[in-house]
Amino acid sequence: MSFQAPKGTFDWLPPRSEQVLAVREALVGPARLAGYGYIETPVFEDTQLFARGVGESTDIVSKEMYTFPDKAGRSLTLRPEGTASVVRAVLQHGLHNGQLPVKLWYSGSQFRYERAQKGRYRHFWQVGAEALGSEDPALDAEVVLLGAQGFASLGLTGVRLLINSLGDKTCRPTYRAALQEFLRGLDLDADTRARIEINPLRVLDDKRPEVQAQLTGAPLVIDHLCAACKSYHEEVRALLSAAGVAYEDDPRLVRGLDYYTRTTFEFVHDGLGSQSAVGGGGRYDGLSEMLGGPPLPSVGWALGVDRTVLAMEAEGLIDDTAPGRVQVYGVPLGDEARRRMFLLVTELRQAGVSADLAYGGKGLKGAMKGADRSGARFALILGERDLAAQAVQLKDLTTAEQTEVPLAQVVDVLKGKVQ
Ligand code: HAM
Repeated sequence: MSFQAPKGTFDWLPPRSEQVLAVREALVGPARLAGYGYIETPVFEDTQLFARGVGESTDIVSKEMYTFPDKAGRSLTLRPEGTASVVRAVLQHGLHNGQLPVKLWYSGSQFRYERAQKGRYRHFWQVGAEALGSEDPALDAEVVLLGAQGFASLGLTGVRLLINSLGDKTCRPTYRAALQEFLRGLDLDADTRARIEINPLRVLDDKRPEVQAQLTGAPLVIDHLCAACKSYHEEVRALLSAAGVAYEDDPRLVRGLDYYTRTTFEFVHDGLGSQSAVGGGGRYDGLSEMLGGPPLPSVGWALGVDRTVLAMEAEGLIDDTAPGRVQVYGVPLGDEARRRMFLLVTELRQAGVSADLAYGGKGLKGAMKGADRSGARFALILGERDLAAQAVQLKDLTTAEQTEVPLAQVVDVLKGKVQ
């Protein structure tokens, strides 16, 4: 019997996996420069954290959570996103009692039982940035800008930024009622009619053409914003324009999580087919209170690492020609040489030179093939005669040039050549 990775999951393997690591680093680079500190939270949490935080009426909570009882009967859930956990951690450790905003970034696996397809996985990777405890349009603009810079730093040119405001607790209820009234007048199936009562904004996001066709005249939240939300939104937009960030107003942008207020945004890439969102986020002023904390107006995003890699692939930015695994490859011929080479390779690594050697007692031909496959620039060939002379043959694999170097000097010689 042989095993396969579970449906909706996959493995990142070398050399691509090295690029994935670099993508994660690059996406959060700008946030780190803006003072965001690293946070790690557990991969599973109390189920209620997500039920309350993300919202019972969302697809994530109602259909997609990996929920299980532990051996003591607690209901736990593999995290479907990072924001609720970050707020939980901030409240639990009282970070909000210090300087505000609290700025945090994270990187990790997320789990959603979704219909698996290209770009949509059951186990995927996000990096995220959250700024908690401050209501200031400049903070919204900062967060959006840092995301845009993250994508740009990878050389991506096809990422578009969509922006909207979802209002606050003053104006959203009036809008919700107006939207519900409009939706109740449409010809919709029973499930969708039920959704009108629970989460009418999500109906706007229904992708089916027969539903979309009826939504043309639907009231838009942007036309129902109260004065405070309106001027806040204008200020965020003005700051983004001043910073040279290109964005598109998308009055129909609603997000799949319930905690959003005011600023919401998504980064999309057109080279990905139907799963076009490479990142998303917004302001979540009420989330802390939903989780039993004090008011903590906050804003953040999460960027999808796997989809970003697909976007880079679509733009031809992924280079799968394997870079050299190591710089130097040892070819020992015989037992005595193997013992000496083992020490030499260890010395090289300690000196900061990446090195490997031929294992398994291979002969010269097999070992040289290993040297080629490793991508190393130099091979070190050590035979009995070399040992007797306390020397080693240093072969430049790009030019085939071979020189003899005293064993006592080879680490220094190589250090000079590879750096
Ligand atoms: P989200 O829009 O659900 O937001 O996810 C953010 C990003 O994660 C998406 O834009 C997408 O790139 C990636 N993603 C989501 N689901 C999948 C999947 N099944 N397979 C592959 N990639 C996926 C959030 O998670 C919020 N916590 C963002 C946030 C932070 N809002 C405020 N702070």
